[in-house]
Amino acid sequence: MSNGTTLVLGATGKTGRRVAARLRLHGTPVRAASRSSPTRFDWSDPGGWDAALRDVDAVYVVAPGVPGPVHGFVARAEAVGVRRLVLLSGRGADTWGDSAFGLDMRSAEDAVRGSALEWTVLRPSNFNQNFDEDVFSAPLVAGELALPAGEVPEPFIDVEDVADAAAAVLTEPGRHAGRVYELTGPRALTFAEAVGLISRASGREIRYRRISPAEYVAALVAEGVGEDDAHHVAEMFVLMEQGLITETTDDLAALLGRAPRTFEDYVVRAAAAGAWQRPHASEGS
Ligand SMILES: NC(=O)c1ccc[n+]([C@@H]2O[C@H](COP(=O)([O-])OP(=O)(O)OC[C@H]3O[C@@H](n4cnc5c(N)ncnc54)[C@H](OP(=O)(O)O)[C@@H]3O)[C@@H](O)[C@H]2O)c1
Repeated sequence: MSNGTTLVLGATGKTGRRVAARLRLHGTPVRAASRSSPTRFDWSDPGGWDAALRDVDAVYVVAPGVPGPVHGFVARAEAVGVRRLVLLSGRGADTWGDSAFGLDMRSAEDAVRGSALEWTVLRPSNFNQNFDEDVFSAPLVAGELALPAGEVPEPFIDVEDVADAAAAVLTEPGRHAGRVYELTGPRALTFAEAVGLISRASGREIRYRRISPAEYVAALVAEGVGEDDAHHVAEMFVLMEQGLITETTDDLAALLGRAPRTFEDYVVRAAAAGAWQRPHASEGS
């Protein structure tokens, strides 16, 4: 066990805040960093990186959405004496050929895997928590999720499991050096099945509707998403429809010694917390 400080990037995000909590419970000193965290860290401001990296033993790296910056970051980490890097990448990072989608992940992996430091890469599937803490939440609350996803199922993974895996790797120096873990949930579900479970557990009529990638781009742009970003997100669904990342793996069970959490387990927790209820209109509004 190392008692050195772990720098947690993306510390306000879905995985980072859960990883930070686990490390603190374990007794590992944590430096929580992001643009709005106690330690300010901005991928677009390399001048601030050395202060965040000072006296750090290990880094949980949540990479930026553009290719490039992780190379410079890894060089700084090497220069100031960091020993270990754990990168949050994503399923398919190595399978999407020349596609523009995933270039950010591939660039981050190249930087981390090419470093002289001890490294581990985590490649999770799409997160369960996208349905209540991220992009799918508002459409579900409104009653309909429309995506360019059909019959190819996705082995959604619970972010609590991703955080358990990251914390295990970060607190077991040496055991996971040079490993790439493909992390999935226990079974693959179509988006229609996922929304059906959410609808049942929340006691509300919530529908899933399949749309074309072009319709999805148009819908995202109408919501204010930039055209390039909209095409980028839509491309992910086109790639998922190819079925390259639909299989489940045993990596999480091998890493943690237990089965991954089910989607149903996630749905009942989130529904009980009121995730998909319409807000009550307050009097006079
Ligand atoms: N969602 C999925 O299904 C999924 C699946 C596999 C892999 N991934 C990967 O997971 C990563 C996202 O991780 P997450 O879901 O834990 O985070 P998240 O919930 O998307 O939150 C993003 C985090 O990054 C920070 N951040 C944003 N812009 C930043 C900048 N310019 N400089 C420094 N920090 C910045 C944010 O905090 P501040 O706003 O305070 O800066 C926040 O803590 C992405 O790389 C994505 O590819 C996601």
